[in-house]
Formats: sequence, structure tokens, C-alpha cells
Amino acid sequence: MASKVNSVFITGANRGIGLRLLKEILLKFRPKVVFATYRNPATSQELTALADANKNVYLIEMDVVDYEKHAEVAKTVESVTGGAGLNLLLNNAGILLSAPLKRVSIQELRSNMEVNLFAPILLTQTLLPQLEKASLNAGSSPCGIGRAAIVNFSSELGSIGGNDTGGIYPYRCSKAALNSATKGMSVDLKRSKILSIALHPGWVQTDMGGPRATLTVDQSVEGIMNVLEHLNESQNGKFIAWDGKELPW
Ligand SMILES: NC(=O)c1ccc[n+]([C@@H]2O[C@H](COP(=O)([O-])OP(=O)(O)OC[C@H]3O[C@@H](n4cnc5c(N)ncnc54)[C@H](OP(=O)(O)O)[C@@H]3O)[C@@H](O)[C@H]2O)c1
Repeated sequence: MASKVNSVFITGANRGIGLRLLKEILLKFRPKVVFATYRNPATSQELTALADANKNVYLIEMDVVDYEKHAEVAKTVESVTGGAGLNLLLNNAGILLSAPLKRVSIQELRSNMEVNLFAPILLTQTLLPQLEKASLNAGSSPCGIGRAAIVNFSSELGSIGGNDTGGIYPYRCSKAALNSATKGMSVDLKRSKILSIALHPGWVQTDMGGPRATLTVDQSVEGIMNVLEHLNESQNGKFIAWDGKELPW
């Protein structure tokens, strides 16, 4: 990582992978500011304590599907960063709804699409001027998270090529579509030197992954930090796993 990461925005930072990743980012990148979103103060006490202990953590209460709030959030980012822009956007918040073809409902499909696809696209759209600013301000720095990057938290369950068990319609389809959006971003933002990747964090022992998952949160986040630190132009528009391996779309 050639240049310093001054600012980071992470959604769903109150538990699971998001919370652990926030802690590692504070420790390793020492950014000037991390915008960390949460929905419910009652289930965000660890995050609140972290923000009390780290003045560079800026808490934002936001449901990612509250699209009308996105513009207000972008204004906050602009004013807190003093026009320096945003280096790294981590679209981490997500939900997993699982249903087979015979039983899947419109509500399940819609909810999963809203949180895992519509919200990251629209939040990225609103924060884009801030990412562009950071990239412009980075001068001749190499592409990477020290310049400007979008990391969309995907899942291997969203891989069309890797799907040999079927089922899980709402979640699989939302992440497959997020992968498509990520590829689109990588093409659209290449000229602005903003990188976009879809990241699979592994099967992780969180509320979502459950206790049988193969990775601890620490293992996953250690891998993710390594991926972030080494992110470069050759990975733009790729689907990358926590261990750095490229996955099939
Ligand atoms: N765990 C795995 O095995 C695994 C595997 C592949 C991919 N992933 C992906 O990795 C990301 C993080 O997963 P995780 O395991 O850390 O999940 P998790 O433990 O279930 O945490 C999900 C996070 O997303 C937030 N969130 C959900 N819906 C939201 C909404 N509408 N608005 C704002 N925040 C919302 C939650 O906030 P609340 O506390 O308010 O609900 C929570 O902070 C997700 O995108 C997931 O799909 C996870």
C-alpha cells in the first residue's frame, strides 16, 4: 500500500465482519476518519464504545435502504473530510434470506435485492463525488485503497459458475447481481482511477455464517486486510476471496 488511507466508510459496522474489520482498520491503517454505520443503538454497544475510545470513528445511524438519507450522509462525509474526499468505501451490510424455488416469495426476493444490491449501488452513487475527490487529490499515487476504492461484500453463493447446489434464491441472486454491478463500476470508474472489487469474506462464524462456518471472524478479517492492503489495478473488476484467490463469476 503506497499511500495512506485517510478516510474509510463502512456499512454494517456494529457486529460480525464489519465490526472486526473496523477494529483492524483503526489499528493498521490509522485513518483520519472512519465513517461507521449502524441501525440500532441497542445492538451497537460495542461499536459505540469503540467510537468513544477512538475519536476518528464517526458513527452514522442509517438503514442502508433509507435512500433519502444517503444525500445527507454524503454531505457529512464532505464536511468531515474537509473536501479531501473518501478513499475507501466498504459496502459490507447484508442480509441472507434462503428459500428454494418452490417456496421463494416476492417479499424475500425483494428484501434481499434491496439490502444487498439496490442499497450498495445507490450509496456508491451518492458517495461517488467523494471518491472522485480523493482520487483527484491523490495525484500520481498508484491505484489502490490509498487512492480510491469500492469493495462490495459479495459471496461465493453469488457465483453463477460456482453454483452446483441450487437453492438459496433470494441471497444468491442478490449477490450475483451485486457482482454484475461491481464489474460495471470497475469499467465506469477506471478513468477516474477508482478501483472496484467484489469480495467474498469466506464462510465466517458470524450471526449470518453460523457456528459451523469454516473461518473465525479473525481469520476472515486478517485475510481481508491483506487483500485490501495489496489491492491494485490488476484486480479492478475482479471477484476476490478473503485469501486473495480469484473466484469465477
Ligand atoms: N458470514 C459469512 O459466512 C458470509 C459469507 C459470504 C458473504 N458474507 C457477506 O459479508 C457481509 C457481512 O456479513 P456478516 O457475516 O458480518 O453478517 P452479520 O453478522 O449478519 O452482520 C450483518 C451486518 O449488516 C447490517 N445490516 C443488515 N441489514 C442492514 C440494513 N438494511 N441497513 C443497515 N445495515 C444492515 C447488520 O446490522 P444490524 O445489526 O442492524 O442488523 C450487521 O451490522 C454481508 O454482506 C454478507 O452477505 C458473509
